[in-house]
Amino acid sequence: MNFNKLKPKISSLVSNSNVLDETLQAICNLLKVSVCHYDWVGFYFRNGEKKELKIGPYAGAHTDHTIIPFGKGICGQVAVSNENFVVADVNSQDNYIACSINVKSEIVVPLFVNNKNVGQIDIDSNTIDPFTQADERFLEFVCRSVATLM
Ligand code: SME
Repeated sequence: MNFNKLKPKISSLVSNSNVLDETLQAICNLLKVSVCHYDWVGFYFRNGEKKELKIGPYAGAHTDHTIIPFGKGICGQVAVSNENFVVADVNSQDNYIACSINVKSEIVVPLFVNNKNVGQIDIDSNTIDPFTQADERFLEFVCRSVATLM
């Protein structure tokens, strides 16, 4: 499904939101089933005032990486850089935390509330180099939408 068709579905989930984690879970499920190169979709959020990320709702294989220190892995780097991180080939990254041998690429987009980086959406793909600027713009839209609930 293309991103322009997904956007109203995200907006509808957000405007009908009641319990935040249920909405985030529904967004993860929707993205995973709708975008064929999204094989794992999840949220990480800053763990209180600690310099670490804590996993939130996700769709896809179980991960042991429930806590990620700032600076570690792709996720931890985005917590510090405040910028999107698109990894075409995870094997080319030294500072990468592997979740599954099937994962070939990753995109992480930060989520800002009042200009503060409070978390991120993280997508793993089993396809090499699948992400374009369209993914970035769409995932920025998802993060902006979710931010209105926080
Ligand atoms: N690969 C991530 C770790 C999280 S998993 O993808 C679920 C990273 O390097 O930060």
